[in-house]
Amino acid sequence: MTRVLVLNGPNLGRLGTRSPEIYGSETLEDLREQLSGSVPDGSSVDVRQTDDEGTLIGWLHEAVDEGMPVILNPAAFTHYSYALRDAVAIVTEAGLPLIEVHLSNPHSREEFRHTSVITGVATGVIAGLGFDSYRLALSAVLRRVTPGS
Ligand code: DQA
Repeated sequence: MTRVLVLNGPNLGRLGTRSPEIYGSETLEDLREQLSGSVPDGSSVDVRQTDDEGTLIGWLHEAVDEGMPVILNPAAFTHYSYALRDAVAIVTEAGLPLIEVHLSNPHSREEFRHTSVITGVATGVIAGLGFDSYRLALSAVLRRVTPGS
């Protein structure tokens, strides 16, 4: 059984009502249902959200200890958290895929969003496609951990 951790950073618990013109009107619970419904047999998703940097880092350490691939939307931490970057590097250096995702396209927004301190240590990045960013990331991580899927 492959369990994929889908980790979401600060303010993503407010999806549905937070800037719907940017992030859409669907909620994190909708994301959980859609990903759980589309995951192939033999795999599962564990969708989590926190506003706390330390909790997010702890979950990345758990991914390493349990050998779980990760989809990560670091939210605003993307742009400045070197502690999160170091934790992401521990995941990818352990040989586990970690895809950075964003609902919006940060490059088409304010200048401070154009920098990601995470991308340089992530396996890949998918941005600007709403929930499709997560769906594509899920298919990519599963292909990496279960070749042929
Ligand atoms: C985001 C983009 C970030 O700039 C922002 O701080 C978020 C969400 C996205 O999914 O588009 O909280 O990561």
